[in-house]
Amino acid sequence: MTIPRLRGAALATVALMATGSAVVPGPAAAAPGAPGTPRYTAGAPTVGDPYFPDQGNGGYDVQHYDLVFSYDPATRFMDATATITAVATQDLDQFNLDFRGPEVSSVTVNGHAHAFTRDGQELIVTPRPKLKAGQRFTVVVRYAGVPGPVTDPDGSIEGWVPTDDGAFVVGEPQGTPAWLPTNDHPTDKATFRFTATVPEGLTAVGNGQLLSQQTRDGWTTFVWDNTEPMATYLATITIGKFEVTQTVTPGGIPSYVAIDPRLVAGSADAVSQIPKMLEFFTGKFGPYPFASTGAIIDYAPNVGYALETQTKPIFSSRASVGTMAHELAHQWYGDSVSPERWSDIWLNEGFATYAQWMYTEYNGGASVQQTFNSSSNYGRAASSSFWQIVLADPGPEDMFSNIPYNRGAMTLHALRGKVGDDAFFRILRQWAAIHRHSDAGTADFIALAERESGQNLGAFFDVWLYQKGKPTTW
Ligand code: TRP
Ligand code: ZN
Repeated sequence: MTIPRLRGAALATVALMATGSAVVPGPAAAAPGAPGTPRYTAGAPTVGDPYFPDQGNGGYDVQHYDLVFSYDPATRFMDATATITAVATQDLDQFNLDFRGPEVSSVTVNGHAHAFTRDGQELIVTPRPKLKAGQRFTVVVRYAGVPGPVTDPDGSIEGWVPTDDGAFVVGEPQGTPAWLPTNDHPTDKATFRFTATVPEGLTAVGNGQLLSQQTRDGWTTFVWDNTEPMATYLATITIGKFEVTQTVTPGGIPSYVAIDPRLVAGSADAVSQIPKMLEFFTGKFGPYPFASTGAIIDYAPNVGYALETQTKPIFSSRASVGTMAHELAHQWYGDSVSPERWSDIWLNEGFATYAQWMYTEYNGGASVQQTFNSSSNYGRAASSSFWQIVLADPGPEDMFSNIPYNRGAMTLHALRGKVGDDAFFRILRQWAAIHRHSDAGTADFIALAERESGQNLGAFFDVWLYQKGKPTTW
C-alpha cells in the first residue's frame, strides 16, 4: 500500500489527460506502466535505501499478507503457506520478494505454478502470463524448514529467534524476511493475517485482533487480523507459554497482554500503566492510531531490546515503565507514521524517547528540562564521541545507538523551546494526523515545523540534524 505514491501517479495521469496534449505516445515511447502497449520489464530488486541495499523491490505494491503456518518448538520446524496480494505498478515480466526463510517448494502467481530462483535474500519470480500495470495479482509461496535469526550491522539479532518455549519474532530493520516473503521496506505497508498452529499449551501472539483460537488433536490454531496498514518490520507472531489478559481500556480500546509467567511480577507496574500512558499520549499526540492495543512480554535474553511491534509492543525481558511508555509512543511515531528511509530513524527513536521523557514528568519524575540537561543528554562534554555522529544520517551501525534516541529527543526539546508549546504540540499532532498509516521523511518534518511555527528553521535544523558537534546556539 504505497498510498502517497499511487495518489501522485493517479493525479499525474489525470492532469495529462486534462491538458488534451497533442502528443500521442506511440508504442515505442511508452514507458513501463504507461497506458497503451505493454512493455514488460523486471521490477527493481531494491527500493534503493542505502542502509540496506537489498531491501524492498520495485514494480508492485503489496496490499495484504496472509500467512498460514504450523510451528513446533521441539523441532523448530515451520510449515508455511504465504499468500500475498499486490498490484503491479508497471508492466512486469519478473519481480522479487525479500525472503531469507527455509526451503521454498512452490510459487504460484494467479494460480499458475512458476519457476523461481533464490539469490541471497531475493526470491525471483517470473510470472506467466506477464502482469500489466494496475493489475491485481496473488502470489502463493509454500515453504518449510527451520527459520532462524538475522544478524544486524550492529551485531544484534532479530528475525525468527527460538526461545526455550517457542520463538521471539521481531523484524526491525530487516528481520521479517527470515520467516515471511515480503516487500521488506517501511514504504510498502499492507494489512496482515496470521493463522498459526502451535502445540497445545502454547500461545501464538500476533499484531491486531484475535479472531479465533481453537484446539484440536493437541494443537491450537490462533487467527490474528491486523486490519490497518503496517510496515513489514513491525510484524510479529511470537510463540511461547504466556499468561494472557484481555481487557478493554477506559478509552474503549481492546487490549491483549501476553506475559511469560517468569516475568509477570517484574512487569506488573508497566502493564498496569498502559491505559494511563495511552490516555496521556492521546491528549498530546491525537487519537490512538489503531483498533487494538496490548503487549507481549517474553523471555529472550539473547535479544536484549524491546520493539514497537504494531498494536502490541514486544519485550525480550521484564517491561519497565519507561520502556513501555517508549514503545507505546512509537505506535504514533514509527508505526502509524513510518520512516521513508532508514536514515530518518530519529523520527522514530527521537520522538519515542521524548514521549518517554514527557511521561516521566507527567508521572511525577524528572522534568523534561532536567532530563535534557542530564549527563546522558546535553550534559555530555563537548569532547564526547556522542556528538560526532550526524543525527539525520547515523549509518546502519548506529541507527539504534543512543544518537537517534538521545540527540533526537534533545532536538525536539530544543525545537519546543524555539517555537513555543502551542506550535510544538500542533506540529506533533499534525505530524501524526497528516502522515497517519503512511510514511514521511526528515524534509517533510522540517517543512511542517516551519509551516506551523511561521519561522525559518533552516539554521536550527542544520545545527541539530545535519552538523556534527555539540550544538551551542540555535
Ligand atoms: N526500535 C526499538 C526501540 O527503540 C529498538 C530496536 C529495534 C533495536 N531493532 C533493534 C535495538 C536492533 C538494537 C538493535 O524500541
Ligand atoms: Zn524506540
